[in-house]
Amino acid sequence: MSDIPHDRAGTFEEAVRRSQALRADFVRHPQRYRMLTGDRPTGPLHIGHYFGSLRNRVELQNLGLETFIVIADYQVLTDRDSVEAVPGNVTELVLDYLAVGLDPAGGHTHIFCHSHVPALNQLLIPFLTLVGMGELDRNPTVKEEIDAAGLTTVNAAMYTYPVHQAADILFCKGNVVPVGRDQLPHLELTRKIARRFNQRFCAGRPPVFPEPEALLSNAPKILGLDGSQKMSKSRNNAVMLRAGADETAALVKKAKTDADRQITYDPERRPEVGNLLLLASLCTGEEPAAIAARIGEGGSGALKKVVTDALNDGLAPIRAKRADLARHPDIVRETLRRGIAEANDVADRTLREARAAMNMGYGLD
Ligand code: TRP
Repeated sequence: MSDIPHDRAGTFEEAVRRSQALRADFVRHPQRYRMLTGDRPTGPLHIGHYFGSLRNRVELQNLGLETFIVIADYQVLTDRDSVEAVPGNVTELVLDYLAVGLDPAGGHTHIFCHSHVPALNQLLIPFLTLVGMGELDRNPTVKEEIDAAGLTTVNAAMYTYPVHQAADILFCKGNVVPVGRDQLPHLELTRKIARRFNQRFCAGRPPVFPEPEALLSNAPKILGLDGSQKMSKSRNNAVMLRAGADETAALVKKAKTDADRQITYDPERRPEVGNLLLLASLCTGEEPAAIAARIGEGGSGALKKVVTDALNDGLAPIRAKRADLARHPDIVRETLRRGIAEANDVADRTLREARAAMNMGYGLD
């Protein structure tokens, strides 16, 4: 694999460097990698997800990497009371995945919900014995999520879900995990769990689990249309992948800009204008500064027209495909049925190996 030693892993800068080295190797040796990543089914996806992660997943899939996408439905139980929205959210997520080009029909992409893969969940039990309470308690991402959700009581799964996430990754021996920066602590824990399992149970036999690598996105960060730090549906500052052209135009029209009629690309001083130029650029491939120069003194009105057209043209094929898929609900069920069957095959095999290593096969496996 890549040649950067692991002893300096753990810092953000190191993760960025390792990600670059990995990307170069994917092209040469796609068959050495198995990608696992996923999402909680908390709602349909927006263009921040698309440019930040989905597009990258599809590129890696198309390079030939075996691709596992987990819909982390049990994880939803960590911070919300109601499960009413889960089925609808799972459907929306699968439609988004298929529309952007994740392609189970290609034979090496598997989309599944972890609630339907018993052997994956069973790995959680030995994994929990490899982690200390203090480690769980110190996880910065979990702390932030507890604060952000304003939880007054915190359930135990909120503290243990990073271990569950290790099972999501390790059940299929995933060795590449495309994630955002916030997920790095979880990935570091997954690496520790793999290492500790192999050390504790695999003396004198081949290790069961790989130590997976984080793959950080090299896409620039997209802000909400209101200029706030995060694009999110709940803040109503997001363009959803599934939105119609008119809806997109209306949202962009409301986007925050500034009073300077001369459009320039200066993301430090003019974050809102910079963000709109970036969005147009991500759709068309033209540099943000070149788009700005073309708009010149046209002001926000002209800028917004350019952005709306870029988004609506750029997303048109995805949206058309999505609308078409949405007319055939069987496709979603079939995608999951197939992905779940494939995930179960892999999970059953891995659990048997893990049981053998733990001396619990009893000649029965
Ligand atoms: N926690 C991730 C998120 O909220 C979703 C997720 C669950 C995940 N299991 C995973 C991501 C395994 C990568 C690998 O975005």
